[in-house]
Amino acid sequence: MKVNDRLEVLIENMDKDGQGIAYYNKKIIFIKGAIIGELCEIEVTKVLKKLIQAKLIKIIKQSEYRRVVDCKIYDKCGGCNLRHLSYELEKEIKSNKVKNTLIHVSKIHDFKFNSLISNNQIYYYRNKAIVPFSKIDNKVICGMYEAASHNIIPNTTCLIEPKLLDQILKIVVNYLEENNISIYDETTKKGLFRAVMCRKTKDDSYMVVLITTSNYNFSNLVNKLITIPNIKSIYLNVNERYDNVLLSDNNILIHGDPTISEDILDHQFNVSPNTFLQVNNQMAELLYEEAIRLLNPTKEDTIIDAYCGMGSISLSIADKVKKVIGIEVVESAVEDAKNNAKRNNINNSLFINGKCEDVINEVVKKEKVDAIIFDPPRKGCDKHFLDVIKSTKIPKIVYVSCNVATLARDILYLKDLYDVVEVTPVDLFPRTSHIESVTLLEQKK
Ligand SMILES: C[S@@+](CC[C@H](N)C(=O)[O-])C[C@H]1O[C@@H](n2cnc3c(N)ncnc32)[C@H](O)[C@@H]1O
Repeated sequence: MKVNDRLEVLIENMDKDGQGIAYYNKKIIFIKGAIIGELCEIEVTKVLKKLIQAKLIKIIKQSEYRRVVDCKIYDKCGGCNLRHLSYELEKEIKSNKVKNTLIHVSKIHDFKFNSLISNNQIYYYRNKAIVPFSKIDNKVICGMYEAASHNIIPNTTCLIEPKLLDQILKIVVNYLEENNISIYDETTKKGLFRAVMCRKTKDDSYMVVLITTSNYNFSNLVNKLITIPNIKSIYLNVNERYDNVLLSDNNILIHGDPTISEDILDHQFNVSPNTFLQVNNQMAELLYEEAIRLLNPTKEDTIIDAYCGMGSISLSIADKVKKVIGIEVVESAVEDAKNNAKRNNINNSLFINGKCEDVINEVVKKEKVDAIIFDPPRKGCDKHFLDVIKSTKIPKIVYVSCNVATLARDILYLKDLYDVVEVTPVDLFPRTSHIESVTLLEQKK
């Protein structure tokens, strides 16, 4: 088999990123855009020792799960990768991904695997977008990054981002054009305007953040933006760093309220430009409810909420437990968590600023902990942190994960002392191959 060869294959499976999988002479072939059950003509684009990459030339027999793609930049964009499938098949693929990774990587078999939780809201579900700007042929453009690249695909509408983003971006692009404002160039590191961030809450209040390389008077742009009544807050974020991190800590309020307010399970949270919030508010509530169901707390319990962000899980369980201790590395998130506790009259929470792996020893020395929640970033938990949990024999762990690969690795490490009891996949990211999950682990009897 060599590059440019064409062949007919049956798609037998789909991988974790939604690519079709076929087999040829014991080699695995990955085909972007092909769906399980389809008969396809493909052309080989890359041959490696054990795998082949191919492109889809023609669908000879089409799957009943194939859908007409409703996004004009889908082929290039690095955002969604499952828009060509029915959402029903997407849920099945993502459920299987969680279950099979745990079976194959963690080597566990005897656990209850629950149905995937979804509210089936697959449009405009994200509450935050950061859109980079650039210039092409002397015209201001903005859009989404191409997959695995820093090329911007000119585009202002996105079917999963906040609905008003399109209107906001068009106002900003026109203003920058009309006023001949320089746009930051990633190669030369010159130019003023870098990006727009937009955040929204469940009640449709918006915050707009204009990201630049230096301070600038945008009062005329502000006057245009506030013709959209949902915009309650506008910031200038001055980012003088030349790396890929678009948002700095240097926020200057230039219009309206310093924060917008989000309601999570009947608690109010202040959202500022740098606040960490799950990107899908409504599904985050279902995720937290599932975590609480698996935790099954009592009023006698002391709970640790490790990797707590601005305390959304801690404060959601506070009225169900004796005490909750949140641990979080980002100082401003810990300040947010403390303020959110005050705002919601919660007096049995304590928030500690530090890395979980650095502070966990101190916490477990002082407190008898009944259960711990993990909600780490994609890289999963630190090994030293897990060692402390194992040595302390905390009876129950509820592991909230956004990356099943690291979840499976961490479970493999814990499984000599903990049994996996139940796992629930939760879809916070419809139309993408990302999937969240909640796992209950209990100390072996
Ligand atoms: C997936 S978020 C979860 C936040 C929160 N539980 C929520 O649902 O909003 C992970 C959080 O872990 C924090 N973090 C990353 N590494 C950490 C570490 N080593 N120790 C403590 N917190 C950490 C991040 O700053 C982030 O707020």
